[in-house]
Amino acid sequence: MSELPHGLIEGTVIERIDWTDNVFSLIVTAPINNYIAGQFTKLALQNLSGEWIRRAYSLVNSPNHKKGYQEMEFLLITAAEGELSPRLNALTKDDRIYVGKEACGFMTLEEIPEEAKDLWLLSTGTAIGPFLAILDEQLTQSRFENIVLVNAVRTEAELVYQSKIQALVERYQGKLRYIPIVSRQHCARALTGRIPALLGSGELAKKAHVKLTPENSFFYLCGNPCMVHDTSDVLIQLGYRKHLRRKAGQYSSENYWQ
Ligand SMILES: Cc1cc2nc3c(=O)[nH]c(=O)nc-3n(C[C@H](O)[C@H](O)[C@H](O)COP(=O)(O)OP(=O)(O)OC[C@H]3O[C@@H](n4cnc5c(N)ncnc54)[C@H](O)[C@@H]3O)c2cc1C
Ligand SMILES: NC(=O)c1ccc[n+]([C@@H]2O[C@H](COP(=O)([O-])OP(=O)(O)OC[C@H]3O[C@@H](n4cnc5c(N)ncnc54)[C@H](OP(=O)(O)O)[C@@H]3O)[C@@H](O)[C@H]2O)c1
Repeated sequence: MSELPHGLIEGTVIERIDWTDNVFSLIVTAPINNYIAGQFTKLALQNLSGEWIRRAYSLVNSPNHKKGYQEMEFLLITAAEGELSPRLNALTKDDRIYVGKEACGFMTLEEIPEEAKDLWLLSTGTAIGPFLAILDEQLTQSRFENIVLVNAVRTEAELVYQSKIQALVERYQGKLRYIPIVSRQHCARALTGRIPALLGSGELAKKAHVKLTPENSFFYLCGNPCMVHDTSDVLIQLGYRKHLRRKAGQYSSENYWQ
């Protein structure tokens, strides 16, 4: 093995969960530094020519979970012809994996303006992961009046972490609504369509029983960059502004690819 690039440390896969043929979770231990719920780190492996391939992956668990922050969970999809994700999908228990020691990212609780009362967490596919970490934090429960967790996937089988979400809904005692969207199949327990259209038509707000208002609402958008782009357009048309540290607004986003 060639020398480990700066910033990466060795870890071990201790468990994997297979949700579908190409959606899976890896549970990894590694001596990483502490992080904040909502952040991401790097996972890396060498390819056949010995080059290190690194990509960003969000942490699904809160750093305060009972097993401690050095036990991490990641939710992944295998990108067709991707360079790293198919190799990660081949890993099994006790395999070595390489992890960024320092997590980063600004999609965290402390970046949300104090005035926000209703938090909208809008995700496509595996981008539900960082939102589950945020929801796992005790502070999230006390800080907001309403939280709406939206996850849009192509097929029903990709609606992952159902028991974890159910436990969160119960723990939040009415404050948390989970709205799944399935776009390429009929699914009785989910909405059909795409996030921007369902937000723009008012269907998401109606389903959540939460009013959209620029005074109370704050939106995190995460995942498919086209969803982020189209949803931002809808929010701007509805009178919302992108949140900047120097000028508070009502939405912020993280793209999973370019
Ligand atoms: C901040 C950040 C956090 C991320 N967190 C996660 C995560 O928690 N889980 C995860 O699966 N991926 C995540 N990604 C994407 C991840 O970094 C890789 O891009 C992805 O695994 C593909 O890598 P690859 O080398 O296999 O494919 P590449 O050869 O890099 O091919 C990339 C192509 O795959 C598609 N793609 C990439 N990621 C996804 C995805 N998540 N869902 C659907 N299509 C995708 C896109 O079409 C993209 O152009 C994140 C990316 C960023 C920037
Ligand atoms: N999911 C699968 O069945 C499958 C199978 C084999 C391989 N893959 C690989 O997995 C990756 C795709 O993963 P994914 O299904 O999690 O991601 P995705 O393509 O981003 O789809 C997730 C959700 O985002 C929606 N979406 C797409 N573009 C949007 C936009 N502009 N605005 C709003 N919503 C939008 C999709 O709706 P639409 O359905 O309307 O696009 C779908 O509901 C690809 O790399 C692919 O190679 C996936």
